[in-house]
Amino acid sequence: MRRKNLKIIHKINELREIIKNQHGSIGLVPTMGALHLGHGSLIKKSVEQNDFTVVSVFVNPVQFGINEDFDKYPRTLEKDAKLCKELGADVVFAPSADEMYQDTQELTLVCPPYSAINKLCGKSRPGHFDGVATVVSKLFNITKCDKAYFGQKDAQQLFIIKKMVKDLNFDVEIIPCPIIREEDGLALSSRNSYIEESKRADALKLSKALKWAKELWQKGIKDKQTLCDNALKILEGLDVDYVEIVDPETFEDYKEGDKRALMLIAAKVSPSNTRLIDNMEL
Ligand code: PAF
Repeated sequence: MRRKNLKIIHKINELREIIKNQHGSIGLVPTMGALHLGHGSLIKKSVEQNDFTVVSVFVNPVQFGINEDFDKYPRTLEKDAKLCKELGADVVFAPSADEMYQDTQELTLVCPPYSAINKLCGKSRPGHFDGVATVVSKLFNITKCDKAYFGQKDAQQLFIIKKMVKDLNFDVEIIPCPIIREEDGLALSSRNSYIEESKRADALKLSKALKWAKELWQKGIKDKQTLCDNALKILEGLDVDYVEIVDPETFEDYKEGDKRALMLIAAKVSPSNTRLIDNMEL
């Protein structure tokens, strides 16, 4: 593996200076840190496809609701930088909240349309996707990236970012990257670290429910209610936020007769109340 001299940059102007002197293509991997092998797969892809890779590590306050886990979100910059270096990234961009936002009260926001956010995670996390779209726009402008890498685990986020890029004419190619799972099926997530080992079986119910729905779909069961009810049975014991099926391209509700279907689940695992999401194309 090629090793480079990884730079850790905290200031926007400093990053802009470095970017100005780059002549090749720039890949951006936006993250909130606490990197795992899912992020690793995005970084690897960016390093393969670009001359210069920036990994942003920023726990974005604007995308967290007041009762959410902003304060306890894991912050592991040193470890993250080590992984970025191993994978051949060039820069870790880790700004402070003050560096990114002079005033979060008077901030110009990028707001995705109501139809895209009034469902799934957007419905239970009001303001979340405004925060995501705003910070991602800022990161695109700061890094002037040619390509940006997003995991398919955050399927609604990926849909919203692709739409934003199209609607606002960002000159950035969005590269979706597949979900990375543990051997037992658990989708990798920075929030998995909140889950006690004894509750792992609960966390695994999400991927089990998705796999079961996929099996039913492949056996010819295409009725939304039946598919969701079967998934819900497996999710028993969890505080389920939603089980939904949408068209993977348009994110419109699935209707029987549609050729493709994406099932998405969000559920909380107690006692830590960890909100997990997962999805699978059926
Ligand atoms: O997916 C995430 O980790 C975040 O939502 C993102 C895209 C880095 C924006 O803060």
